[in-house]
Amino acid sequence: MKQAKSVPIPAIAWPPPPGRPRHRALYQNLAEAILNGALAPGTQLPATRTWAQALRVSRGTVLAALEQLTAEGYVRALQGSGTFVADIPQDLGRSGTRAMPAGSAAPLSSRGRLLARTDLGEVEQPARPFEVGIPALDRFAATRLASLTTGAWSSMPASELQYPDPAGYPALRLELVRYLTRARAVRADADQVIVVSGSQQALYLAAQLLLDPGDEAWMEDPGYVGALSALQAAGADIVNVPVDGEGLSVREGTALAPDARLVYVTPSHQYPTGATLSLARRLELLAWARQRNGWILEDDYDSEFRYIGAPLPALQGIDEAGTVLYVGTFSKILAPGLRLGYLVVPKALAPAFRAAKSLLDRGSAVPLQAGLARLLAGGGMERHLLRMRRLYQHRRDVLWSELREAFGDRVNLGPPSAGGMHLVVWLPPGMDDQAAVRRAYEHGVWVRAVSANARRPLPRGGLIVGYAGFSDAELREATAKLEEALRTLWP
Ligand SMILES: Cc1ncc(COP(=O)(O)O)c(C=O)c1O
Repeated sequence: MKQAKSVPIPAIAWPPPPGRPRHRALYQNLAEAILNGALAPGTQLPATRTWAQALRVSRGTVLAALEQLTAEGYVRALQGSGTFVADIPQDLGRSGTRAMPAGSAAPLSSRGRLLARTDLGEVEQPARPFEVGIPALDRFAATRLASLTTGAWSSMPASELQYPDPAGYPALRLELVRYLTRARAVRADADQVIVVSGSQQALYLAAQLLLDPGDEAWMEDPGYVGALSALQAAGADIVNVPVDGEGLSVREGTALAPDARLVYVTPSHQYPTGATLSLARRLELLAWARQRNGWILEDDYDSEFRYIGAPLPALQGIDEAGTVLYVGTFSKILAPGLRLGYLVVPKALAPAFRAAKSLLDRGSAVPLQAGLARLLAGGGMERHLLRMRRLYQHRRDVLWSELREAFGDRVNLGPPSAGGMHLVVWLPPGMDDQAAVRRAYEHGVWVRAVSANARRPLPRGGLIVGYAGFSDAELREATAKLEEALRTLWP
C-alpha cells in the first residue's frame, strides 16, 4: 500500500433522495468514487465520527457503509491506523463502449448472424382490419381459461411445480393426442407430443435438429415467412418450390432437389394462397420422403376452420413410414398471446426433441398447460371451435361479398375460400401488390402482399386479407377504405 494521505470528506452526492437507506447511499457513493479513481488507492478515509458529523447521519450508518465496503474489498481497515482505499487496479478502464470495427454490425458468430438476419419483426397493437391470422380475441373465453388455470394450479401438488417434463405437462400431452386423433386423424402416442411455445418454436427446433448448414430444404413459394426464417437460421439451402391450385408441386420439387433433407408444407390450407394439397400430391410427397429419406414438416396452423365439409385429415395420419413431423398451434384456435403449440414427431425423434426443448427453456409454463388440459378434457375447446367456425364462415361471407361489390372484375377473388382465416385478392397482372399494401396502410387498412411471401416473381400480385378477428362493421368499413386507397393504382 502506498503512503497514507488523509483527506477531508470526499465530494459525494449528499444527501440522498428521500426514502433511500442512507448507509446504502453512502456505500454506493464511495464505491463509485473508488472505481472511477476519484478516491485513489491508499487514500485514508476520515474517521467515522467526522463522517457522521459532516453528513448528519449516525455513526452506525457510516459503520454499516464501511463494513460493506470492507467486505467487498474496496477499503481496508488497518488496526490502529484507520481505513484506507484498497489497491485496486486503476487502468482497466470501466468507461467507454466496447470497441467495434467501424461501420460493421455487431461482431456475431456466423450462427448469430443467421439468427439476427431472420427477425420476424413486431406486430403493431392493437390489430386493425385486415391483419392476417388474428382470431376473434373478444370471443375467446379468457376468463374461463383463467379460472381453469387457477383451479388446476391451486389443486396441483407442490411437487408438480418442480422443473417440468420438458416435453410438456403429461395431462396436456394426453388430451392433445385424444383431440388430434378425433379432429385431425393424427396417429400418435402421448410420448410423441412435444408442447412448444407456439409453432415458431416447433419450426425452429425441427430445422435445428434435422438440417446441417448447406442441406437442401424445399420451401413452398409463396410460403410462410416464419418457416422460411427458421430454415434459413439453420443454414439450409432453400429450394423454392412453386405452389398451384393443388398446393406444393411435388414434381417440381423433385426435379429441383431430389435429395433435399426436408420439406415445409401447409397441406390443409396453403399459406398464403389457400390451396389444399390434393390427395395425389399427398401420396406423391409421402413416397418421395420414404424413398429419399426426407422429412416432411407439416404446418397445420388453421386447419380447424374448414367451412365446406369436414376438416381435412392431417398428412401425418396417412404416413406409414414415420417421415412426418406435425405442427399445430393454439394461436389460431384460441389466442396467439398464449404462445403455446405442439409438435408430434416420429417415435425415433422424440428423445432428441425433448432434449432440445429442455435446452431451449426447460419446458413451457406448467399452470397454463394444466389449464389447457382441463379446457380440452371438458370439451370447452371444441365448443369454442364450433362457435368460431360458424362466426368465421359468416365473416368470410361478409368480406367476400363486400370485396366483390367494391372491386368487381378488377380483381380475381375466386370462390369464397373453403377454410382458414383470410382471403386472397389477386390483383391485375402488372399491379404492384407491395405498393398497394403501402397505400392501404396510409388509409388505415392493413393487408399483406403475396409477393412479400414469395422468392420468385409471381404472374400477378395479391393482397392477403384477414377477416376472422373483425366485426361485420369493421370489415365493411375497411373494404371501403381499401377501395379508396387503390383508386389511383389500377393499371
Ligand atoms: C403458416 C403459419 N404457421 C404458423 C403460424 C402460427 O405461429 P405461432 O404458433 O408461432 O403463433 C402462422 C401464424 O400466422 C402461420 O401463418
